[in-house]
This record gives sequence, structure tokens and C-alpha cells, in this order.
Amino acid sequence: MTWLDLGNPRPRTEVQHYVPVRWPESGRIPLQPLALLPSDDSTFEWSFMDLATRRRSAREFAPLPLDRLGWLLALTSQQLACGPQHLGFPLTLRPSPSAGAIHPVHLVVQSPVLGGWNRYDPAGHELVSVPGGPDVQVVRREMDELIAAPVATLLLLVAEPGKTAAKYFNSESLVWRDAGVLLGYLSLAAEALGLAFVPLGITGDPWAGKLVDESGLAGVGAALVGRRT
Ligand SMILES: Cc1cc2nc3c(=O)[nH]c(=O)nc-3n(C[C@H](O)[C@H](O)[C@H](O)COP(=O)(O)O)c2cc1C
Repeated sequence: MTWLDLGNPRPRTEVQHYVPVRWPESGRIPLQPLALLPSDDSTFEWSFMDLATRRRSAREFAPLPLDRLGWLLALTSQQLACGPQHLGFPLTLRPSPSAGAIHPVHLVVQSPVLGGWNRYDPAGHELVSVPGGPDVQVVRREMDELIAAPVATLLLLVAEPGKTAAKYFNSESLVWRDAGVLLGYLSLAAEALGLAFVPLGITGDPWAGKLVDESGLAGVGAALVGRRT
């Protein structure tokens, strides 16, 4: 095989100013904060050691309630602190680590309950409806050919590589590794919430790149999540 050498990332001596992709929006759906997770919820009795050894991918799904989706997103991606904006967007701290605190990977949610495409806003802990974008029926049909799961919630990991490139030369491998970290966090958080979760091997392209009418987005992964059957 030919290994695609992405080079060694190096911080630029002078960072670039990056103008983030402008996502269109047609409505906002507030999500449940972690504080509202019932304290008697039995799924949270597991220690980290239990979770790490119990976690298994699952491929059968029941519909995912919005409160569970909110907690899954909070445990992996919610913005917990905001840093400087010298790259043209704020650096942020979230549950998962990210090279340079840049967090270039957006989570985009599609489910039969929510319809359409919905971007997670880590600052407001809300879903932001994205008007237009690729035909949902076509994408779900192609997903069902990989794993037949029409009621599962689809998570697309959609990178904005220009963000990481504003700080680093040879930044591409950092974006891929950020996406892998996020998938790992999602899989453990799903286990903690008693959910069925499976990563998918596809990148999510060409659909991810078509979510907005400008260039700058790339698919870096996908996953299915739902309630356990
Ligand atoms: C990057 C990545 C891509 C994957 N792609 C798929 C996939 O397309 N279909 C699938 O059924 N499972 C997929 N999986 C799940 C693996 O098959 C699964 O993790 C593996 O069999 C080990 O099982 P476990 O997750 O229960 O430990 C993927 C896992 C990872 C990390």
C-alpha cells in the first residue's frame, strides 16, 4: 500500500487570521443541560473502569430521545471555557481534547425525529437547524446500505480544516486525530448513558462538504446512535 504521509505538524511563527464558515440557520432547538440528568439514573452507576471494559459497539437502535442526545453532546463537546480569538474565532475548552484548543470538528445531527440537518452549537448547547444541504433521504438510504438503522440518529463529524491550518503547517493529521478523539469520547459517553453506538468507516463526504454553499468543510467521520433495543 501507499501510506499517505501528511507530514509533521509545526506551529506557524505567525498565525494566520481565519474567517470561519458561515452556517445558515433556520431555527434553534435548546438541549437539556447535564444538570438535569436525573441523579437516580441507573446508567450513571458505572465507574470509569466499568465503562472502559463494558463498552461495545451496537448496531440495533431504537429512537434516541432529545434529552439523551443533549447529554451525549454535553459530555463530549459542550463549551466549558472560552479563550482568546487571535485566530479569528475563539479557542475553547470542551470535554474532549483538541490540538491547539481549536476544535475544528463540528457535529451535525440527522434523525427521523428532528428531520433535516442540525449543527451542534457548543457555546449555546443548542441544535441549530441547517436549511438546505444534501438530500436527507438519499443520505439515509446510502447509510442503511452500510448498517440498516432507519430510526438511528446519524452523527456526521464535519471538519473545518482551515481553523487548524491557521495555527499549524501540515495541520491535516491533527484534524484527523481530533476526529478520532471525538469518536472515542462519543463511544464512551454513549456507554455511560446506556445508548447503542457505532462509529462508521465512511468520512461522510461528499455530503459533509455540501452542507453549506461555500467551500471549507470536509467529512472526517460518522456514527450512529440510539436507544438500545
Ligand atoms: C474508525 C472506526 C470505523 C468503524 N467503522 C465501522 C463500520 O463502518 N461499520 C461497523 O459495523 N462498525 C464499524 N466500526 C466499529 C468496529 O467494527 C468495532 O469497534 C470493532 O469491531 C470492535 O468492537 P467494539 O467497538 O465492540 O470494541 C468502526 C470503528 C472505528 C473506530
